Amino acid sequence: MPIIPARLAFAEDGTPYSDTFDDVYHSADGGLGQAHHVFLAGNALPRRWQQRDRFVVLETGFGLGLNFLATWAAWRDDPARCGRLHFISCELHPFSADDLAQLHARWPQFAALAAELRSQWPIPVPGLHRLHLDDDRVTLTLYFGDARAGLAQIVAQADAFYLDGFSPAKNPDLWSPGVCHQLARLAAPGATLATWSVAGTVREHLRHAGFEVEKTTGFGGKRQMLRGVLRPDARPVGRSALPASAVVRSPSSEPQRHALVIGAGLAGCAVAERLAARGWLIDLIETADAPATGASGNLAGVLRPLPSLDDNRMGRLTRAGTLYGWRHIARLRKADHGVKAEACGVLHLARDETQASKMQAVVERLGLPTAHLRYVEAAEASALAGWTLPTGGWFFGDSGWVQPPSLCAANLARHTRAIHRHFGRKAVRIEHDGERWLAIDAQGTVIAHAPIIVIAAGTAIRDLLAPGRLPVVSARGQVSLLPAAVNSAPRVVVCRSGYVSPEVDGLRCAGATFAVDDDDETLRAGDHAENLAKLEGMLPGITAEVSLAQIGGRVGFRPASPDRMPMIGALPAVTCVDRNTPLTDIPRQPGAYVLSGYGARGLVWSAIAAELLASQLEGEPLPLERDLCDAVDPARFLLRPPRAGRIEE
Ligand SMILES: Cc1cc2nc3c(=O)[nH]c(=O)nc-3n(C[C@H](O)[C@H](O)[C@H](O)COP(=O)(O)OP(=O)(O)OC[C@H]3O[C@@H](n4cnc5c(N)ncnc54)[C@H](O)[C@@H]3O)c2cc1C
Ligand SMILES: C[S@@+](CC[C@H](N)C(=O)[O-])C[C@H]1O[C@@H](n2cnc3c(N)ncnc32)[C@H](O)[C@@H]1O
Repeated sequence: MPIIPARLAFAEDGTPYSDTFDDVYHSADGGLGQAHHVFLAGNALPRRWQQRDRFVVLETGFGLGLNFLATWAAWRDDPARCGRLHFISCELHPFSADDLAQLHARWPQFAALAAELRSQWPIPVPGLHRLHLDDDRVTLTLYFGDARAGLAQIVAQADAFYLDGFSPAKNPDLWSPGVCHQLARLAAPGATLATWSVAGTVREHLRHAGFEVEKTTGFGGKRQMLRGVLRPDARPVGRSALPASAVVRSPSSEPQRHALVIGAGLAGCAVAERLAARGWLIDLIETADAPATGASGNLAGVLRPLPSLDDNRMGRLTRAGTLYGWRHIARLRKADHGVKAEACGVLHLARDETQASKMQAVVERLGLPTAHLRYVEAAEASALAGWTLPTGGWFFGDSGWVQPPSLCAANLARHTRAIHRHFGRKAVRIEHDGERWLAIDAQGTVIAHAPIIVIAAGTAIRDLLAPGRLPVVSARGQVSLLPAAVNSAPRVVVCRSGYVSPEVDGLRCAGATFAVDDDDETLRAGDHAENLAKLEGMLPGITAEVSLAQIGGRVGFRPASPDRMPMIGALPAVTCVDRNTPLTDIPRQPGAYVLSGYGARGLVWSAIAAELLASQLEGEPLPLERDLCDAVDPARFLLRPPRAGRIEE
């Protein structure tokens, strides 16, 4: 369902008001006082987060984010605060960033925090959105959509719940038995809850779900409020599938956050950055003398989603990856690590009239913000591209091109001390010695060792794992590099069966061929001709002045996956299981993880995949919905072996 943003309105006394629910967003006696008395004090905060590594708060309705800002500010002001604060919240009708600015202006003491929040505020599209704030120490995970569906998709263990819907009489969905059961499922042992409502139905639903609740003194004009705790004997149906933290802890030593990462392409550099940002030490091993010399070495690639009529998993995952990917680039840039990229817009042209109608139907059905996706007719498409085009198509206004090597370099530059580079070293085999993973070179020398290993070796993952362990396929791709005058067409990325970038470093990058199990590393004239034909089909006449002699190019080998979804997570320890085994019950190789199968979408997957794996390793709330985490689990092929047949782009 499309997300309908909230409409800014106020009650007569000036309290923010929702005409959809006919209720106010916070107590008329003061939103901030309510946040402190009901939600923070009601959950015994700040005391309960003190001296801990991490604390997780889960809220039912985000509204204007006042509870979040109050919690973040209290956490900052507390010298004994936990290392990291996670805040998860659901919102069916998010405010626009402009409306939030107007609302936040009422609390000038939060001006800096509120501005940081709004600078990353997601566009109103369904699903989970992860924001990193306060130098990566505060993580906000927002679910846009109905909390009744969203809570079931969240993978986390929460220490405190803020129950903050509109009044149960006007907003019963947010206080339903189903929501209360989901909260119990998401509760860490000893989790507490607080809410201003003492409605009998709310107490009953919470008790039934497994919480002990009691009334206590309320805020302002409200005589009472409710606080509660998960009963120690509560055994909610369907425990959270949150994997246990992989951080090694022995009684005598500090937690050991140390991993080997094999491969410094898009996958390996991104995960090294996400883990280093959490205080991990990384030994990054790479055969070449520099990062991004394999599949990730192209001049420019496209970072954009792939929508579908039924908003299927591929559509949702590419949307999450694209939005998180661009936010990640913005954060790297803000930290002064330049990434060569431009969100200039991507035009995906329709093949014919039939496809044009289908594309229009997708746009109408999804109802996404037009700045993110809209359908443009041929005339507007031509104006956008700066070239006369025969057809219209999808226009992704906030997508564009990225230079992968610059992204890899920026990821590594962000944590130069935490990421120890072993470049020019090839790991010919990996071994577990009972405690640690060892990466060993051709001479038998141990390059580095660590309790955790992440294999991000592109197509070469097949040489490091036993044959048939993961169905990774090599898909050769050749791009053609054409000379371009500065500011020449196209002005946006144009794609259809292939793609062409605007001018990047004096060149246009046009591609790409896709051939499975073809090991030829040399540039082929036939492949250039194929790329030029695709280009000419998209932008008629653009190749007229181009001679084959002027064309450069590059060959790369994509690590492709049979279902086109990436492989992110713990490596299975077995090669066959009963098809009915839940994914979480499949035995895994201790301490071994993979990032693979990125196929033709390495830019789309790399940032969100790295964040997902780092969250899994830490036992943190996950940044993707549960069904998407399952869809990328490397063990999925044990339950649904890939069908023989063509691997597609
Ligand atoms: C022609 C072409 C066009 C593409 N266009 C796009 C696009 O427009 N948009 C998009 O999103 N994606 C695109 N892709 C896909 C994307 O580039 C890949 O999915 C991505 O680069 C894969 O990254 P990776 O880190 O898994 O693999 P790689 O980049 O290949 O990195 C693996 C690294 O591991 C190293 N390594 C391997 N074995 C060992 C070992 N034993 N010891 C040490 N190091 C080792 C390798 O040297 C290599 O550097 C394109 C790919 C190609 C080839
Ligand atoms: C009382 S307000 C929350 C105020 C907020 N906690 C704050 O600090 O500003 C309740 C919020 O719940 C949202 N909401 C109502 N029903 C919902 C549902 N089914 N799923 C998700 N959010 C919902 C409303 O849109 C509203 O923003």
